Amino acid sequence: MLRRSRYRKEMWRRISVAAVGLGMLAFAAGCGGDDPDTVEVEGGDPATGEELVVSYDCASCHYIPGFPESSGHDAPGLQLWPNRAFVAGAAPNRPENVISFLMEPDSIQPGSGMPNLGISEEEARHIAAYLFTIGGPE
Ligand code: HEC
Repeated sequence: MLRRSRYRKEMWRRISVAAVGLGMLAFAAGCGGDDPDTVEVEGGDPATGEELVVSYDCASCHYIPGFPESSGHDAPGLQLWPNRAFVAGAAPNRPENVISFLMEPDSIQPGSGMPNLGISEEEARHIAAYLFTIGGPE
């Protein structure tokens, strides 16, 4: 009897370990989109992007975690950017669309409230790379 109950305990332990493993796999797979952690922007450097976000003063309009001066009132918050499905509600949130939007917002969302800031393609790549690293509120 004793042996049998030990065996059962061991079985349950193994089953729960397997269940946790499966749960983590499901989590990593996300809900059908790209795994946010793997979004890479070709030719984009997140650290340079962050500097550009500072110099273009994006946080004067957007809430961006880690930027104390974020107003968060005039424009959508950019927290958890990798989890977004769309750019400006108009195009799938993929690097090439983010880059186009940053360079020329009207090309993705005609009449966009986001101003054309004269961002070059190279700069847009860096900024997009940074956007895909933004987490939640700090
Ligand atoms: C003068 C205010 C202003 C500044 C400065 C500004 N934006 Fe925006 N931005 C907006 C507004 C308004 C929208 C919303 C457009 C819409 O959906 O109508 C927007 C939209 C966006 C979006 C899409 C948001 C979403 O929810 O899909 C991104 C990404 C973005 N801006 C990034 C930036 C970056 C990066 C900078 C700096 C390089 C920047 N913005 C500077 C006003 C601004």
